[in-house]
Amino acid sequence: MDRTERLARDIIRDMGGHHIVALCVLKGGYKFFADLLDYIKALNQNSDKSVPLTVDFIRVKSYCNDKSTNSVKVIGGDELSNLSGKNVLIVEDIVETGRTMQTLLSLLSECNPKMVKVVSLLVKRTPRSSGYRPDYIGFEVPDAFLVGYALDYNEYFRDLSHICILNDQAKEKYKV
Ligand code: IMP
Ligand code: MG
Repeated sequence: MDRTERLARDIIRDMGGHHIVALCVLKGGYKFFADLLDYIKALNQNSDKSVPLTVDFIRVKSYCNDKSTNSVKVIGGDELSNLSGKNVLIVEDIVETGRTMQTLLSLLSECNPKMVKVVSLLVKRTPRSSGYRPDYIGFEVPDAFLVGYALDYNEYFRDLSHICILNDQAKEKYKV
């Protein structure tokens, strides 16, 4: 929560001059999104130049078992054209290869936002990385499969309050 508050401060410093659209990447991002937005809201309301803050939600699906697949699907959300001229903050749970975010960013750039920034709670240190780095990073994590705090393995474990590494036994048990 300390780290999240710090991220909120950095984000408001850089983006707080203009209407912000906070875009939650579901489902894994929802816990971090809710906590981060609470801090951003508080900072925005307490500043003398508070700006409109609106939210939107999209779904992106790229995982089967513990492997990133090549296809990245974007589902839901308002018309992306609503983002035109706005400061868009994409809120993600974890970046691994970077492919999901790069796909999303190229889609968004077609809508002519004023600014797009990406905040990810976690970034995995992995040789599979494309080299992509989000603008704001909560923590760097080891190259293991993580669950909890809305991160899932085949939809399981989102309900854990903490983040942990999934062991091989659990991977086997909850495989599809
Ligand atoms: P990327 O496209 O390889 O960067 O993968 C990003 C997406 O894969 C994230 O939005 C997550 O939903 C999912 N993901 C990657 N690593 C993990 C993990 O360790 N646990 C749960 N989901 C993960
Ligand atoms: Mg995700």
